[in-house]
Amino acid sequence: MARAKIALVGAGQIGGTLALLAGLRELGDVVLFDVVEGVPQGKSLDIAEATPVLGFDAKYAGTNSYEAIAGADVVIVTAGVPRKPGMSRSDLIGINLKVMEQVGAGIKAHAPDAFVICITNPLDAMVWALQKASGLPANKVVGMAGVLDSARFRYFLADAFNVSVEDVTAFVLGGHGDDMVPLVRYSGVAGIPLPDLVKMGWATQEKVDAIVDRTRKGGGEIVNLLKTGSAFYAPAASAIEMATSYLRDKKRLLPCAAYLSGEYGQSDLYLGVPVIIGAGGVERVVEIELNADEKAMLDKSIASVQELVGECKKILPSLA
Ligand code: APR
Repeated sequence: MARAKIALVGAGQIGGTLALLAGLRELGDVVLFDVVEGVPQGKSLDIAEATPVLGFDAKYAGTNSYEAIAGADVVIVTAGVPRKPGMSRSDLIGINLKVMEQVGAGIKAHAPDAFVICITNPLDAMVWALQKASGLPANKVVGMAGVLDSARFRYFLADAFNVSVEDVTAFVLGGHGDDMVPLVRYSGVAGIPLPDLVKMGWATQEKVDAIVDRTRKGGGEIVNLLKTGSAFYAPAASAIEMATSYLRDKKRLLPCAAYLSGEYGQSDLYLGVPVIIGAGGVERVVEIELNADEKAMLDKSIASVQELVGECKKILPSLA
Protein backbone atom coordinates (compact mmCIF):
# COMPACT_ATOMS: atom_id res chain seq x y z
CA MET A 1 0.00 0.00 0.00
CA ALA A 2 1.23 3.49 -0.83
CA ARG A 3 2.56 5.51 2.08
CA ALA A 4 0.32 8.17 3.58
CA LYS A 5 1.16 11.79 2.78
CA ILE A 6 1.62 14.27 5.61
CA ALA A 7 1.65 17.97 4.70
CA LEU A 8 3.07 20.38 7.25
CA VAL A 9 2.00 23.98 6.66
CA GLY A 10 4.57 26.09 8.51
CA ALA A 11 8.18 24.90 8.58
CA GLY A 12 9.32 26.70 11.71
CA GLN A 13 10.23 25.19 15.08
CA ILE A 14 7.14 23.01 15.41
CA GLY A 15 6.97 22.21 11.68
CA GLY A 16 10.57 20.94 11.60
CA THR A 17 10.02 18.82 14.72
CA LEU A 18 6.80 17.41 13.25
CA ALA A 19 8.69 16.46 10.09
CA LEU A 20 11.28 14.51 12.07
CA LEU A 21 8.74 12.80 14.36
CA ALA A 22 6.44 11.84 11.44
CA GLY A 23 9.41 10.04 9.90
CA LEU A 24 10.56 8.39 13.11
CA ARG A 25 7.01 7.10 13.67
CA GLU A 26 6.91 5.94 10.02
CA LEU A 27 3.63 7.77 9.38
CA GLY A 28 4.35 8.41 5.70
CA ASP A 29 5.97 10.82 3.25
CA VAL A 30 6.32 14.43 4.35
CA VAL A 31 5.85 17.73 2.51
CA LEU A 32 6.99 20.84 4.37
CA PHE A 33 5.41 24.10 3.18
CA ASP A 34 6.37 27.64 4.21
CA VAL A 35 6.20 31.14 2.77
CA VAL A 36 9.90 31.63 3.48
CA GLU A 37 12.01 30.39 0.59
CA GLY A 38 14.70 27.85 1.39
CA VAL A 39 13.62 26.94 4.93
CA PRO A 40 11.22 24.08 4.07
CA GLN A 41 13.62 22.87 1.38
CA GLY A 42 16.60 22.98 3.75
CA LYS A 43 14.82 21.29 6.65
CA SER A 44 13.43 18.50 4.50
CA LEU A 45 16.79 17.80 2.88
CA ASP A 46 18.47 17.79 6.30
CA ILE A 47 15.96 15.24 7.67
CA ALA A 48 16.09 13.15 4.48
CA GLU A 49 19.85 12.94 4.94
CA ALA A 50 19.29 11.63 8.48
CA THR A 51 17.01 8.78 7.34
CA PRO A 52 19.80 6.30 6.50
CA VAL A 53 21.21 6.74 9.99
CA LEU A 54 17.85 6.72 11.75
CA GLY A 55 16.68 3.78 9.66
CA PHE A 56 13.36 4.73 8.12
CA ASP A 57 12.11 5.22 4.57
CA ALA A 58 10.12 8.35 3.80
CA LYS A 59 10.22 10.90 1.03
CA TYR A 60 10.77 14.48 2.17
CA ALA A 61 10.01 17.56 0.06
CA GLY A 62 10.16 21.26 0.89
CA THR A 63 7.99 23.74 -0.99
CA ASN A 64 6.69 27.31 -1.21
CA SER A 65 3.73 26.30 -3.33
CA TYR A 66 0.38 24.92 -2.16
CA GLU A 67 0.17 22.60 -5.19
CA ALA A 68 2.69 20.34 -3.46
CA ILE A 69 0.26 19.49 -0.62
CA ALA A 70 -2.18 17.97 -3.14
CA GLY A 71 -3.70 14.72 -1.99
CA ALA A 72 -2.37 14.96 1.57
CA ASP A 73 -4.00 12.55 4.02
CA VAL A 74 -3.11 14.73 6.99
CA VAL A 75 -2.31 18.45 7.10
CA ILE A 76 -0.80 19.90 10.27
CA VAL A 77 -0.87 23.69 10.45
CA THR A 78 1.66 25.70 12.43
CA ALA A 79 1.85 28.69 10.08
CA GLY A 80 1.88 32.04 11.84
CA VAL A 81 3.82 33.71 14.60
CA PRO A 82 4.58 32.36 18.09
CA ARG A 83 4.53 34.24 21.42
CA LYS A 84 7.39 36.23 22.90
CA PRO A 85 7.75 36.92 26.64
CA GLY A 86 5.00 39.21 27.94
CA MET A 87 2.54 38.18 25.21
CA SER A 88 -0.60 36.15 25.73
CA ARG A 89 -1.77 33.72 23.06
CA SER A 90 -4.58 36.13 22.19
CA ASP A 91 -2.05 38.86 21.27
CA LEU A 92 -1.32 36.81 18.14
CA ILE A 93 -4.85 37.00 16.76
CA GLY A 94 -4.43 39.87 14.28
CA ILE A 95 -1.53 38.29 12.37
CA ASN A 96 -2.47 34.64 12.68
CA LEU A 97 -6.11 35.08 11.63
CA LYS A 98 -4.99 36.39 8.22
CA VAL A 99 -2.60 33.45 7.98
CA MET A 100 -5.47 31.02 8.68
CA GLU A 101 -7.47 32.63 5.88
CA GLN A 102 -4.63 31.95 3.40
CA VAL A 103 -3.89 28.45 4.69
CA GLY A 104 -7.61 27.55 4.67
CA ALA A 105 -7.84 28.57 1.01
CA GLY A 106 -4.75 26.49 0.19
CA ILE A 107 -6.17 23.40 1.88
CA LYS A 108 -9.58 23.90 0.27
CA ALA A 109 -8.00 24.05 -3.20
CA HIS A 110 -5.46 21.25 -2.85
CA ALA A 111 -6.19 18.90 0.06
CA PRO A 112 -9.95 18.96 0.69
CA ASP A 113 -10.03 15.30 1.81
CA ALA A 114 -7.34 15.69 4.48
CA PHE A 115 -7.65 15.40 8.23
CA VAL A 116 -6.46 18.81 9.40
CA ILE A 117 -4.81 19.48 12.76
CA CYS A 118 -4.32 23.12 13.73
CA ILE A 119 -1.63 24.13 16.23
CA THR A 120 -1.43 27.88 15.54
CA ASN A 121 -2.41 30.10 18.49
CA PRO A 122 -4.71 31.39 19.88
CA LEU A 123 -5.68 27.80 19.22
CA ASP A 124 -9.43 27.56 19.78
CA ALA A 125 -10.12 30.68 17.69
CA MET A 126 -7.60 29.80 14.96
CA VAL A 127 -8.98 26.29 14.44
CA TRP A 128 -12.47 27.80 14.19
CA ALA A 129 -11.21 30.26 11.55
CA LEU A 130 -9.32 27.53 9.68
CA GLN A 131 -12.43 25.34 9.47
CA LYS A 132 -14.47 28.28 8.14
CA ALA A 133 -11.79 29.35 5.66
CA SER A 134 -11.19 25.81 4.38
CA GLY A 135 -14.84 24.81 4.24
CA LEU A 136 -13.84 21.25 5.24
CA PRO A 137 -16.30 19.20 7.31
CA ALA A 138 -15.98 20.13 10.99
CA ASN A 139 -15.19 16.52 11.97
CA LYS A 140 -12.07 16.68 9.75
CA VAL A 141 -10.66 19.87 11.29
CA VAL A 142 -9.41 19.70 14.86
CA GLY A 143 -7.13 21.69 17.16
CA MET A 144 -4.16 20.39 19.14
CA ALA A 145 -4.09 21.68 22.71
CA GLY A 146 -5.56 19.19 25.17
CA VAL A 147 -3.03 16.45 24.43
CA LEU A 148 -0.24 18.95 25.13
CA ASP A 149 -1.85 20.43 28.24
CA SER A 150 -2.57 16.93 29.55
CA ALA A 151 0.99 15.83 28.76
CA ARG A 152 2.35 18.72 30.82
CA PHE A 153 0.00 17.81 33.67
CA ARG A 154 1.08 14.14 33.42
CA TYR A 155 4.76 15.00 33.39
CA PHE A 156 4.48 17.24 36.47
CA LEU A 157 2.51 14.53 38.34
CA ALA A 158 4.92 11.75 37.36
CA ASP A 159 7.84 13.88 38.49
CA ALA A 160 6.18 14.72 41.83
CA PHE A 161 5.21 11.09 42.53
CA ASN A 162 8.42 9.61 41.11
CA VAL A 163 6.46 7.15 38.95
CA SER A 164 6.56 6.38 35.23
CA VAL A 165 4.91 8.93 32.98
CA GLU A 166 3.30 5.92 31.27
CA ASP A 167 1.15 5.20 34.33
CA VAL A 168 -0.07 8.76 34.81
CA THR A 169 -3.28 9.78 33.08
CA ALA A 170 -4.54 13.33 33.20
CA PHE A 171 -7.33 15.29 31.69
CA VAL A 172 -7.51 18.93 30.69
CA LEU A 173 -10.68 20.47 29.27
CA GLY A 174 -11.58 23.88 27.88
CA GLY A 175 -9.75 26.48 25.85
CA HIS A 176 -5.95 26.53 25.42
CA GLY A 177 -5.44 29.53 27.67
CA ASP A 178 -4.56 30.22 31.26
CA ASP A 179 -8.14 29.40 32.27
CA MET A 180 -8.02 25.86 30.87
CA VAL A 181 -9.57 23.27 33.17
CA PRO A 182 -7.24 20.52 34.47
CA LEU A 183 -9.66 17.89 35.80
CA VAL A 184 -8.16 16.58 39.01
CA ARG A 185 -10.95 14.02 39.55
CA TYR A 186 -10.28 12.39 36.18
CA SER A 187 -6.50 12.31 36.61
CA GLY A 188 -4.38 9.85 38.52
CA VAL A 189 -1.87 7.00 38.54
CA ALA A 190 -2.78 3.58 37.09
CA GLY A 191 -6.48 4.14 37.75
CA ILE A 192 -6.08 5.61 41.26
CA PRO A 193 -7.68 9.09 41.11
CA LEU A 194 -5.68 12.10 42.34
CA PRO A 195 -8.02 12.85 45.28
CA ASP A 196 -7.40 9.28 46.54
CA LEU A 197 -3.64 9.74 46.14
CA VAL A 198 -3.91 12.85 48.32
CA LYS A 199 -5.77 10.79 50.96
CA MET A 200 -3.07 8.13 50.68
CA GLY A 201 -0.44 10.77 51.50
CA TRP A 202 1.28 10.77 48.08
CA ALA A 203 0.88 14.53 47.83
CA THR A 204 -0.71 17.36 49.75
CA GLN A 205 -3.68 19.21 48.27
CA GLU A 206 -1.40 22.29 48.08
CA LYS A 207 1.08 20.38 45.93
CA VAL A 208 -1.70 19.24 43.58
CA ASP A 209 -3.02 22.81 43.39
CA ALA A 210 0.49 24.05 42.51
CA ILE A 211 0.77 21.44 39.74
CA VAL A 212 -2.62 22.47 38.34
CA ASP A 213 -1.45 26.09 38.32
CA ARG A 214 1.85 25.18 36.64
CA THR A 215 -0.06 23.18 33.99
CA ARG A 216 -2.27 26.19 33.22
CA LYS A 217 0.81 28.37 32.77
CA GLY A 218 2.94 25.67 31.15
CA GLY A 219 3.20 27.39 27.78
CA GLY A 220 4.20 30.71 29.34
CA GLU A 221 6.89 29.01 31.45
CA ILE A 222 8.60 27.81 28.26
CA VAL A 223 8.19 31.17 26.48
CA ASN A 224 9.86 32.91 29.42
CA LEU A 225 12.79 30.49 29.28
CA LEU A 226 13.25 30.50 25.49
CA LYS A 227 12.62 34.26 25.11
CA THR A 228 12.63 34.05 21.29
CA GLY A 229 9.65 31.75 20.73
CA SER A 230 7.36 29.16 22.26
CA ALA A 231 7.39 25.43 22.99
CA PHE A 232 7.89 23.09 20.06
CA TYR A 233 8.92 19.56 21.06
CA ALA A 234 5.86 18.73 23.19
CA PRO A 235 3.38 20.47 20.84
CA ALA A 236 4.79 18.54 17.88
CA ALA A 237 4.72 15.20 19.75
CA SER A 238 1.09 15.86 20.74
CA ALA A 239 -0.05 16.55 17.18
CA ILE A 240 1.74 13.40 15.96
CA GLU A 241 -0.28 11.41 18.53
CA MET A 242 -3.48 12.76 17.00
CA ALA A 243 -2.33 12.15 13.41
CA THR A 244 -1.37 8.57 14.32
CA SER A 245 -4.82 7.88 15.76
CA TYR A 246 -6.40 9.09 12.49
CA LEU A 247 -4.02 7.32 10.09
CA ARG A 248 -4.07 4.00 11.98
CA ASP A 249 -7.77 4.24 12.94
CA LYS A 250 -6.75 3.76 16.57
CA LYS A 251 -9.86 5.44 17.99
CA ARG A 252 -7.87 7.03 20.82
CA LEU A 253 -9.87 9.12 23.27
CA LEU A 254 -7.90 12.36 23.29
CA PRO A 255 -8.69 15.87 24.52
CA CYS A 256 -8.76 18.05 21.39
CA ALA A 257 -10.25 21.34 20.30
CA ALA A 258 -13.33 19.98 18.51
CA TYR A 259 -16.31 21.60 16.84
CA LEU A 260 -19.34 21.57 19.11
CA SER A 261 -22.91 21.31 17.81
CA GLY A 262 -24.83 21.32 21.05
CA GLU A 263 -22.39 19.31 23.19
CA TYR A 264 -21.49 20.99 26.47
CA GLY A 265 -24.31 23.44 25.65
CA GLN A 266 -22.25 25.11 22.87
CA SER A 267 -22.76 25.51 19.14
CA ASP A 268 -20.50 26.71 16.36
CA LEU A 269 -17.58 26.83 18.76
CA TYR A 270 -14.29 24.92 19.00
CA LEU A 271 -13.40 23.88 22.53
CA GLY A 272 -11.07 21.41 24.22
CA VAL A 273 -13.18 18.32 24.91
CA PRO A 274 -12.57 14.55 24.90
CA VAL A 275 -13.04 13.09 21.42
CA ILE A 276 -12.52 9.77 19.66
CA ILE A 277 -10.18 10.12 16.68
CA GLY A 278 -10.29 7.36 14.07
CA ALA A 279 -10.40 6.94 10.31
CA GLY A 280 -13.58 9.05 10.24
CA GLY A 281 -11.78 12.02 11.83
CA VAL A 282 -13.50 13.17 15.01
CA GLU A 283 -15.86 10.22 15.34
CA ARG A 284 -17.44 11.16 18.63
CA VAL A 285 -17.43 14.03 21.12
CA VAL A 286 -17.57 12.55 24.61
CA GLU A 287 -19.64 14.48 27.15
CA ILE A 288 -18.45 13.83 30.69
CA GLU A 289 -20.20 14.69 33.93
CA LEU A 290 -18.87 17.83 35.57
CA ASN A 291 -19.47 18.94 39.16
CA ALA A 292 -20.45 22.54 39.96
CA ASP A 293 -16.84 23.75 40.43
CA GLU A 294 -15.65 22.14 37.19
CA LYS A 295 -18.67 23.51 35.32
CA ALA A 296 -17.93 27.02 36.62
CA MET A 297 -14.29 26.76 35.47
CA LEU A 298 -15.36 25.45 32.06
CA ASP A 299 -17.91 28.29 31.68
CA LYS A 300 -15.11 30.82 32.32
CA SER A 301 -12.92 29.15 29.73
CA ILE A 302 -15.81 29.05 27.22
CA ALA A 303 -16.37 32.79 27.73
CA SER A 304 -12.69 33.48 26.87
CA VAL A 305 -12.91 31.39 23.69
CA GLN A 306 -16.19 33.08 22.69
CA GLU A 307 -14.55 36.47 23.12
CA LEU A 308 -11.65 35.49 20.85
CA VAL A 309 -14.00 34.09 18.19
CA GLY A 310 -16.01 37.33 18.45
CA GLU A 311 -12.80 39.26 17.70
CA CYS A 312 -12.14 37.04 14.68
CA LYS A 313 -15.65 37.72 13.36
CA LYS A 314 -15.03 41.47 13.71
CA ILE A 315 -11.67 41.35 11.93
CA LEU A 316 -12.85 38.99 9.15
CA PRO A 317 -16.66 39.14 8.94
CA SER A 318 -16.58 36.89 5.86
CA LEU A 319 -15.72 33.94 8.11
CA ALA A 320 -18.82 34.17 10.32
N1 APR B 1 1.84 30.62 5.33
C1 APR B 1 2.69 29.62 5.65
N2 APR B 1 3.63 29.72 6.61
C2 APR B 1 3.69 30.88 7.27
C3 APR B 1 2.83 31.97 7.00
C4 APR B 1 1.87 31.80 5.98
N3 APR B 1 1.02 32.76 5.66
N4 APR B 1 3.15 32.97 7.85
C5 APR B 1 4.17 32.55 8.61
N5 APR B 1 4.50 31.28 8.25
C6 APR B 1 5.56 30.43 8.78
C7 APR B 1 6.81 31.19 9.20
O1 APR B 1 7.60 31.51 8.07
C8 APR B 1 7.49 30.20 10.14
O2 APR B 1 8.42 29.36 9.47
O3 APR B 1 5.14 29.79 9.98
C9 APR B 1 6.31 29.33 10.66
C10 APR B 1 6.10 29.45 12.15
O4 APR B 1 7.22 28.92 12.76
P1 APR B 1 7.85 29.54 14.11
O5 APR B 1 7.91 31.01 14.01
O6 APR B 1 9.10 28.78 14.39
O7 APR B 1 6.72 29.17 15.20
P2 APR B 1 6.45 27.77 15.93
O8 APR B 1 7.18 27.73 17.21
O9 APR B 1 6.61 26.66 14.97
O10 APR B 1 4.90 27.98 16.30
C11 APR B 1 3.92 28.10 15.30
O11 APR B 1 2.18 27.26 16.73
O12 APR B 1 2.13 26.85 19.01
C12 APR B 1 1.80 27.75 18.00
O13 APR B 1 1.92 29.86 19.14
C13 APR B 1 2.53 29.03 18.17
O14 APR B 1 1.20 30.23 16.60
C14 APR B 1 2.47 29.61 16.80
C15 APR B 1 2.56 28.36 15.90
